[in-house]
Amino acid sequence: MVQVVIGSDHAGYELKEQLKERLLDCGYAVRDIGTVSIEPVDYPDIAVEVAREVLNNEPALGILVCGTGIGMAITANKIPGIRAAVCNDTFAARAAREHNDANILAIGARILETESAWDIVKAFLSASFQGGRHARRVDKIRALESRYFK
Ligand code: RB5
Repeated sequence: MVQVVIGSDHAGYELKEQLKERLLDCGYAVRDIGTVSIEPVDYPDIAVEVAREVLNNEPALGILVCGTGIGMAITANKIPGIRAAVCNDTFAARAAREHNDANILAIGARILETESAWDIVKAFLSASFQGGRHARRVDKIRALESRYFK
C-alpha cells in the first residue's frame, strides 16, 4: 500500500483527523504533518512540508485539506515534481491520478461533508496513472518546470 502524507490548516484540521483515522483503519501508512489543532496556521507552511515528504518518499501520495483546497494546491504546485489537484468530486480525483499523475490531492473542508471527502480520497488513492498519451502530456509539464522553475 502506498504511503500517505497528510496535512491541513486549521480549517481542515477536523476533516484531516477523520480522514487519517479512516486511512489507518484501512491499513495505510500515514504520515501526519499537522496541523494539530484548530488554532490558526498558514496553509503554505503545511503544504510545503507535505510536498517535501511526498517527494522524499516516492511513490508516496499526499492529501492536503484547507477550507477550499485551493491555497494548499497553489502552494504545493510551486515545488518542482509536485502535481497537486484540487478535487471536490470523485470523477476529478480518479482522473487526477489516471490522466495527470497527480501526487497530491487537495480538498476543501468548507465544501465537503466527511463522507464525500472520504469517497474522494478513496478514488484518488485507488486509481493509477494510465501512461500512454497522458505520459506525453505530463512530460510537457515537467519540461515547463525545467524551463521556468529556477
Ligand atoms: C483559511 O481561512 C482559508 O483561507 C484556507 O483554509 C484555505 O481555504 C485557503 O485556500
